[in-house]
Amino acid sequence: MADERKIPAHVAIIMDGNGRWAKKRGLPRTAGHAQGARTVEKILEDADHMGIRYLTVYAFSTENWSRPDSEVKSLMNLLRTYMKTSLAKCAKNNVRIRVIGDKSRLDDDLIRSIDNLERETAGNTGISFQIAINYGARDEIARAVRKGAEAVRAGELDPSDLTEEWISDHLDTAGLPDPDLLIRTGGEQRISNFLLWQLAYAELYYCDTAWPDFDKEDLEKAIDAFNRRERRYGGVIE
Ligand code: IPE
Ligand code: IPE
Ligand code: MG
Repeated sequence: MADERKIPAHVAIIMDGNGRWAKKRGLPRTAGHAQGARTVEKILEDADHMGIRYLTVYAFSTENWSRPDSEVKSLMNLLRTYMKTSLAKCAKNNVRIRVIGDKSRLDDDLIRSIDNLERETAGNTGISFQIAINYGARDEIARAVRKGAEAVRAGELDPSDLTEEWISDHLDTAGLPDPDLLIRTGGEQRISNFLLWQLAYAELYYCDTAWPDFDKEDLEKAIDAFNRRERRYGGVIE
């Protein structure tokens, strides 16, 4: 029987629960992050096979700098490794990668490998994969507002030009459709400063599975739940 489900075009994921996953097993939190990084690779492939066109994951928030230095360092090292090893895989699977967030606070070598990966995959036409690093939605909006204010001050724009569309076009996600479905793993039910503008009409789905354990079946469940939702966008449906 043909699969008649609607597949959301854009799925965003708050990958949470790595630390608790590790603690439960008597492992250091960093072991949870390492396993979580493997989950990212698998879920990207599953999402692609299911026909999801855009996948955006929250890897490191502007607030995560407040974690112990050793944890921040290990997260940055995982990202470093990811940027270095994923190019071959992206080429093979036609994946386009973009990083959202304020890259300027990252180490120079990491910025260089991100730039390289973005450049090398820019022409790929398969799934578009966004990784949020040093990302905070309030920070993203504040950066866009500052750009608008500068343009007005320079006389290039009139305040009335700063429309919703202008703002969308000046966020880190410029050019991407808004997420249809947001998944948060790990049991918490909050947004934690992720994509505040873009999630305006997303369906929110929370599951208890810790990110390192999240698999294709869990993704299928989230898509099934999405299919049971009725999206009204403020209107009425007969
Ligand atoms: C998510 O897992 C990964 C990041 C936030 C970088 P956590 O590290 O937040 O795991 P918990 O929430 O402590 O279990
Ligand atoms: C959100 O998870 C950030 C990422 C998944 C990168 P956190 O674990 O940092 O969020 P809080 O602290 O529970 O709100
Ligand atoms: Mg957490």
